[in-house]
Amino acid sequence: MADKGNADYQWDGFDAEQYFQQYYGEPHADDDRVVEFAVNALKQATPHDRLLDVLDVGTGPSLIPFLCALPRARRLTAWEYSGANIAWLKFELARDELRPQWRHFWDVGRAAYGKGWDLPDNPAVALREKSVLTQGSIFDLPRAAWDAATMFFCAESITKRQDEFEAACAAFARSVRPGGTLVAAFLAQSEGYIVSDYLYPALNLSPEAIQRTFAAHADGIVVDAVGMVDHEIRSGYSGLIFLTGTAR
Ligand SMILES: C[S@@+](CC[C@H](N)C(=O)[O-])C[C@H]1O[C@@H](n2cnc3c(N)ncnc32)[C@H](O)[C@@H]1O
Repeated sequence: MADKGNADYQWDGFDAEQYFQQYYGEPHADDDRVVEFAVNALKQATPHDRLLDVLDVGTGPSLIPFLCALPRARRLTAWEYSGANIAWLKFELARDELRPQWRHFWDVGRAAYGKGWDLPDNPAVALREKSVLTQGSIFDLPRAAWDAATMFFCAESITKRQDEFEAACAAFARSVRPGGTLVAAFLAQSEGYIVSDYLYPALNLSPEAIQRTFAAHADGIVVDAVGMVDHEIRSGYSGLIFLTGTAR
């Protein structure tokens, strides 16, 4: 039987609050490392003399990408396929006080930015003012429309098909202008993840396979394996692969 593709899963039934509780309810050290990696890459994103248009693809029920990019961003665009997740993000961004988990990740991000950045104690208003929520598919991203793009657990977590994974990575990489910064995290050694009793897909990829996929689209690619263990810490999660590069 052919592997199931992106269209074979019920993304509009995604249980956003359950996902949030399951993956971010109790922040894990690996999440902090993701924030630190992303901030370090975004800090160096060019150009340095103006704020950037930053995209996050497959945002889902997470504010981590927005929190990491906020200090560098003029505009933060979430490009998310699921209406349920868009509705959750809208509700979450309407809060004047962020939930403790997002406060935690903001503190980790602020520390990673370090001295010399005038960052607010509470980023809720700035997040809301800069954010744009777009319901759309990664496969339909416009080309060269952003200065920098992030993608956390999307291209490998939306399909069982290798050709779709590669098309998703290509679309992500091409969404930024040449020279723009790419930041991505991928599930390592995962076959899928369960949210509210529904099994979502994942492709089991090596760091080398990810590097190969991006070699056609990016320069200066750096790939790091983070927190790889031999058991699941959360459904479908036993470590991750982090990637940075610049779009060609
Ligand atoms: C594993 S979740 C990752 C969520 C979040 N980025 C995180 O780091 O926890 C995968 C996300 O990809 C979204 N997604 C599924 N198909 C998509 C598509 N074709 N284009 C964009 N996003 C998609 C899902 O709705 C979900 O939010």
